[in-house]
Amino acid sequence: MTARVDMDKIVSLCKRRGFIFPSSEIYGGLASCWDYGPMGVELKRNVRDAWWRTIVHERADVVGLDTSIMMHPGVWAASGHIDSFTDPMVECKSCHLRWRADQIENQGCPKCGGELTEPRMFNLMFQTFMGPVDVKAELSGALSLALGGPEVSGVGVAKLKEQLDRATIYLRPETAQGIFVNFENVVNTSRKKLPLGIAQIGKSFRNEITPGNFIFRTREFEHMELEYFVKPGIDEKWLDYWVKERFDWYTRLGIRKENLRLREHGKDELAHYARACSDIEYLFPMGWSELEGIANRGDFDLVQHAKASGRELVYYDAEVNEKYVPYVIEPSAGVDRSVLAFLIDAYDEEEVEGEKRTVVHLHSSLAPVKVAVLPLSRNEKLRPLAKEVHKQLCSSFVTDYDDSQSIGRRYRRQDEIGTPFCVTVDFESLEDKQVTIRDRDSLAQIRVPIEELNKTLEAKLMGETFDASPLWATREK
Ligand code: GAP
Repeated sequence: MTARVDMDKIVSLCKRRGFIFPSSEIYGGLASCWDYGPMGVELKRNVRDAWWRTIVHERADVVGLDTSIMMHPGVWAASGHIDSFTDPMVECKSCHLRWRADQIENQGCPKCGGELTEPRMFNLMFQTFMGPVDVKAELSGALSLALGGPEVSGVGVAKLKEQLDRATIYLRPETAQGIFVNFENVVNTSRKKLPLGIAQIGKSFRNEITPGNFIFRTREFEHMELEYFVKPGIDEKWLDYWVKERFDWYTRLGIRKENLRLREHGKDELAHYARACSDIEYLFPMGWSELEGIANRGDFDLVQHAKASGRELVYYDAEVNEKYVPYVIEPSAGVDRSVLAFLIDAYDEEEVEGEKRTVVHLHSSLAPVKVAVLPLSRNEKLRPLAKEVHKQLCSSFVTDYDDSQSIGRRYRRQDEIGTPFCVTVDFESLEDKQVTIRDRDSLAQIRVPIEELNKTLEAKLMGETFDASPLWATREK
């Protein structure tokens, strides 16, 4: 493995190989917004699927949910986001760039050294207005008329302001609230007992003051969140359990242990809803930074929503004939930030026979393409068999077919997108009905009968080591 990679190389690989493009690029881009290309969309799906499989499908105590991005504004008042989901913002008096005050180490502007304003609290939620009437435009029109003369009465303006308040809604800054407000629905319909987890994957939006570092911090991103409801008193045990589970998830999917660490939040940095929190941090190119947060939210959210909605959000434990408000342990991860960490950790440059090889050692379950079928050349004689092999594979694996350019270039492309196996069809294949499988990581090659190809690849994708090939070994004898 080479030394740590810098972010520019990852951004360049992502653009070059179709993982991630700047959003609205032909218009000059939109700051901190990114689009996932053909390879990126597969990688992102694989990350989501791996999370869902581990968190929901492989457990009996977790169910899934998919709630709407726009919610009743009362949700955000009760959850504390309208009052407390804020960052302290300062502005440079010279260059007018804005910064998060808590991320500035000395007193001056990090860009030009200029004097900064006093911090003011900035709410990170995106606002929009629901309904077919542009209340905001009407209100500003009415206000300017009111200032210029008696045409619009104070009563009229007050009424418009009231309408504006009623039409104001927010894009969710976390998916968690959709889970809390459905707690009663899920408990009543799922026939599950506590401890019970409810999981959700979906888009969240935050008007971050300082987005950046590629897809690390963006204003639109995707959350993978689990709210795990437990009986108060055993919450600390479950917090420890989930911290370990989540740490292991990343290492099982290939992230090196030495690039991960845990960091417990100090009391002064806890979010407004949290009793305790530990971050799993990854060694990103810009230094150790949060990859996922695992918080103990106590009964904060259910109590707040019960108060605001008038509903009794409690759990009835029939075994002990007792009602209580559960505590919640919340592992909350970002899909995009995980994609970035997986790519960085898998990226490698090495020298092979005097040439530089860039290779992305993604775990086979995350790799966008599992197998590439590469006829040795574009020779007409090879095509029918190569196409046949592709057809045989593509109903079982995400399979690429590529016959343009030299075989060396095609291998390089597959290495850069992280394809674990390339299958080469050559002239001998026409005679012996065997093909060559090339392993991305070891570069070892074995020859396998086409009729055994799917079975062999399946075993290898499940982790069977490459050089032990019983099928082939038996046949050679
Ligand atoms: N519901 C709790 C919650 O949202 P958080 O620590 O603010 O907690 C959890 O976010 C995870 O979501 C982070 O660890 C990160 O992976 C991801 N995340 C948060 N803000 C993000 C942003 N602006 N851009 C990309 N990912 C973000």
